[in-house]
Amino acid sequence: MSPASGNGAAAARAAADGVRSRLGARAPVAPVAAIVLGSGLGDLAARIENPVRVPYAEIPGFHATNVAGHRGELIHGTLGGREVLALAGRVHMYEGHGARTAAYPVRVLHALGARVLFVSNAAGGISRAFAPGDLMIIEDHLNLMFRNPLFGAVEPTDERFPDMSAPWSPRLVALLRACATKTGVPVRSGVYAGLLGPNYETPAEVRMLATLGADAVGMSTVPEAIVAAAMKMEVAGISLITNAAAGISGAPLSHAEVVAVGAAAAERFAMLVTEFISRL
Ligand code: HPA
Repeated sequence: MSPASGNGAAAARAAADGVRSRLGARAPVAPVAAIVLGSGLGDLAARIENPVRVPYAEIPGFHATNVAGHRGELIHGTLGGREVLALAGRVHMYEGHGARTAAYPVRVLHALGARVLFVSNAAGGISRAFAPGDLMIIEDHLNLMFRNPLFGAVEPTDERFPDMSAPWSPRLVALLRACATKTGVPVRSGVYAGLLGPNYETPAEVRMLATLGADAVGMSTVPEAIVAAAMKMEVAGISLITNAAAGISGAPLSHAEVVAVGAAAAERFAMLVTEFISRL
């Protein structure tokens, strides 16, 4: 677990150099934000204007993603008139990766100059007020993955003991709310619980998560938010509630449902995120 282990700051700097050379005349890159697109939310990638796409296979240290609904490319272009980097697809720890590896793309985005990170994911709704298709602004999280991407040697970009009293930027939460009002896109807000997966939860686990204060549950995002906090990035995010969590509606859960609800929400999600980026 040294910084040279292939998924730390030194590797991220080298990967960022590789991406810059792929972007050729566009470098230097100066994104107002980096966007991570979660399951079923990859449609936003198609709205990035003047895009250059770099497949993950061409970025050192990146892993191909094998999950349906995840594409696997870094995109540089503009959204809402502003320069952005986007990752269409992410690797998950349940695919067999460590937390450092799951969060490594955030290090590359940081090395490319991103200081605002916007993440998205698909999640099961725990709050009884939520319905499938709802967009939830992430206000806080619970790390229930029992792994930490900062475990091991401290990276030169990182703080050893990052403050986590406000990892989800209150300024950006307020901006997302303002963008929701402006665009007329309804939003919820709440606490995201990150679990390792890959199985969905049992009804007893969902009752436990509700007791712990979770409003939504998913299998990603938390390692990214932790590494971003350690590098002092400003972080915001949206969970798309794709289903009522296990035991709430009684219906069985399926990944196909997760992807289908994402497609139905794509337009609202894109309007909200585009407005958000344009106002950064
Ligand atoms: N649980 C965990 N992850 C998820 C869910 C869920 O119910 N829905 C989409 N991702």
